[in-house]
Amino acid sequence: MTLEIDWSYDAVVQRRENYYAASQRKFQPYRKPLIVKRGKGQYLWDEDDNRLIDLLGMNVCISVGHAHPDVVRAASEQAAVLPHCTTMFYHPVPAHFAEELAATMPDGYDWVVHFTNSGAEAIDLALMMARTYSGKSDIVSLQGGYHGPTYGAQSITGISGFRHNVNLPGHVQFALSPNPYRSEFGDDTERYLTSLENTIRYNTSGKIAAMVIEPVQGYVGIIPMPEGYITGAAERIRAAGGIMILDEVQAGFGRTGDSFWNFEQHDVVPEIVVAAKGIGNGYPLGAVIAQKEIAEPMAEKFLFHTYGANPMSCAAGRAVLEVLKREQLQQNAKVVGKQLLDGLTGLMHDHPIIGDVRGRGLMIAVELVKDRQTKEPAPEETAIVFEETRFNGLVTSKAGPDRSVLRLVPPLCLSTQDVPEIVRSMDRSFAALR
Ligand SMILES: Cc1ncc(COP(=O)(O)O)c(C=O)c1O
Repeated sequence: MTLEIDWSYDAVVQRRENYYAASQRKFQPYRKPLIVKRGKGQYLWDEDDNRLIDLLGMNVCISVGHAHPDVVRAASEQAAVLPHCTTMFYHPVPAHFAEELAATMPDGYDWVVHFTNSGAEAIDLALMMARTYSGKSDIVSLQGGYHGPTYGAQSITGISGFRHNVNLPGHVQFALSPNPYRSEFGDDTERYLTSLENTIRYNTSGKIAAMVIEPVQGYVGIIPMPEGYITGAAERIRAAGGIMILDEVQAGFGRTGDSFWNFEQHDVVPEIVVAAKGIGNGYPLGAVIAQKEIAEPMAEKFLFHTYGANPMSCAAGRAVLEVLKREQLQQNAKVVGKQLLDGLTGLMHDHPIIGDVRGRGLMIAVELVKDRQTKEPAPEETAIVFEETRFNGLVTSKAGPDRSVLRLVPPLCLSTQDVPEIVRSMDRSFAALR
């Protein structure tokens, strides 16, 4: 049976209802599902040809803009010649990309790359590398961190809604995540570090394989790690024999503006960095970038991701790096991100429901509270504002443990000209609460 694609609204919705498994069907945020027809740069068009400013970037996957011509060309040209090449054979495109990625990492270290198809695969591999290298099992992760859907990645994910009621792998302990807005420890970094020390001392064997940190926690509501935390954590983890794995799947690739990798804003060089999403601008691609010494013991056994180092995805990845540099999108994220942050902060005056506006570069959160003193989360109001944003021409997303945060992670090509429109649309969306 070969079907003709039927774009009519009800047919699209019904087919998904009928043929997607519950596990894939559930992730649907709007009351009336959104069908997306096409995208260009920072914009999307729905099935009725309404233009929307994309402040979600397909869940942070779109870095240099939807359907960027250079990325499309690079992937199509490779697809026309050889769409796939098993890693058993040699091909220059992934190898060049590995060298180019290694060049984005701090000087003075020997960096090597293992390409995967997704972030979760890369996280699983990073955990395996750390355990193989160290000969230890215990991993420390942070409450509020999200690392992916696979067994391994879920085992270190510290958000209940993403942890399934199955026997996830053990030897994982969670430390309290620094959250200046919500935690009783406020912005006292030393207290979070003491708490981490206690996690190591009381909840683990004392012998640590690794700690995994998302340097800006995304799904839990854009929580940047405070100055000094990652460095302090690294000291404690290394003293217990472990290495540092930085999950830059959301925060990497220039998104936070001041540096290419977010960890560069902290005084630390991780042993392993995990990348995905924005690295491929929509093409399936993930990467473990590791110090050679850490990755080397994995050579004892075979490890084979069938589509790992796929030349088509790697050609797209090379083009993404090139466009990021040429169009200075990291700098753009810094400048436009600040304008957007300021504009949204300005809305606090008229909308007391906004408790906090925070973020770095183009990773911004607007947190809604019923009362600014008690900080009681406002999930019902967030749901209303969220629905309104769509009818005011924006794609955003709800985040946070209480679904009371609006998360803005647009393509890095969002422009200064878009900012007033976004702020006006957000203003109108909040006004719906009156
Ligand atoms: C920080 C972080 N790490 C890992 C992952 C997993 O990536 P993937 O969905 O490509 O498996 C995600 C996905 O949302 C993520 O946000």
